Amino acid sequence: MNRFWNAVVRPLFDIVQPKHVVEIGAATGLNTRNLLQYCKDNKEIGVRLTSVDPAPSFDIDSFKEEYGVDFNMDYRLSIDALPDIADADIILIDGDHNWFTVFNELKIIEKTHRESYPIIVFHDTGFPYGRRDVYYTPENIPEQYRQPHYKKAITPYQSTLQEVGINPHINNADHEFGKKNGVLTAIEDFIDESILSFSFIQVFGNNGLGIMALHSSLEGNPKLKEFMDGISVSEMLTDYYLDYERQFHQEHCNALSYAIESAYWQSATQNVSEEKNNLVSEIDSLIKRNKELEDKCAELENNNTLTKAELKRILASRTYRLGNSVRKAYRFFVHSNTE
Ligand SMILES: C[S@@+](CC[C@H](N)C(=O)[O-])C[C@H]1O[C@@H](n2cnc3c(N)ncnc32)[C@H](O)[C@@H]1O
Repeated sequence: MNRFWNAVVRPLFDIVQPKHVVEIGAATGLNTRNLLQYCKDNKEIGVRLTSVDPAPSFDIDSFKEEYGVDFNMDYRLSIDALPDIADADIILIDGDHNWFTVFNELKIIEKTHRESYPIIVFHDTGFPYGRRDVYYTPENIPEQYRQPHYKKAITPYQSTLQEVGINPHINNADHEFGKKNGVLTAIEDFIDESILSFSFIQVFGNNGLGIMALHSSLEGNPKLKEFMDGISVSEMLTDYYLDYERQFHQEHCNALSYAIESAYWQSATQNVSEEKNNLVSEIDSLIKRNKELEDKCAELENNNTLTKAELKRILASRTYRLGNSVRKAYRFFVHSNTE
């Protein structure tokens, strides 16, 4: 939502001049800051902000202190908090991006704002959650409205979830399109069912932004009508932009696959080179051992030659031959006496 602030949302605020702004889904407070700055810039007309988010991840008190405006943080789920809000002029819906939540948010707002329906600004009307549910906390959604879902990745041109792609860490519906699936489907179903008559336009890119207003509000506010007409895109270009957004995400998925593959090959190459270094050092130590053994062999051979020469010299010596004759005579003598 934050990325649409300067180009679309702030100009819309300048036309509508809301007194009470409601933000559903504040997260890190990126867009909350924009809204608080708007409240501060328009302090003299008393603009206030209610943010609804069960798990905001910024310091609420320091935001309050920094901007010094009327800011209420409501930590309930939107469908619990909205019944208590009856005077919003603009509601920004960027919380749990699934059919059940968005459809019921709109139903509640319809009940609580019978007198003057607010302008609703939605994020995520485009790819990937326009036609596919995602659940922050699946148990919060009644079972019959929960699509089968997995923590697996979305890719632009495949309905089923994949290993590599967008948002693999959250509970994505396992298929795209079909009934009661996605933010845009919820908005269309609500508009179809409502007895009120709405105008709805989309801004493409950055996951899509939708703006919904009563026809009667546009009739009563020519500047608002001009603004909505200025943004609205012909049906022919709608398909072009929707495909362009998918192509954009496909590039991202391709880059992701490439990065994963490169990392794989880099680590495989590193393993092979480590293995090669180990083998080279093993060969070095074998060559060294071989040289030691060759030296030992040469030494033994040399000793052998010396021993043989010594033996030959002993066998040829007069002392040995004399001793030998004595040994033979002695054996003959012993043999003769024992018979
Ligand atoms: C996409 S982020 C909001 C981003 C924010 N609007 C911005 O522009 O920076 C969605 C937020 O919605 C909150 N959320 C999830 N389910 C919700 C619900 N049922 N009601 C209200 N907020 C919800 C989450 O806690 C999360 O902080």
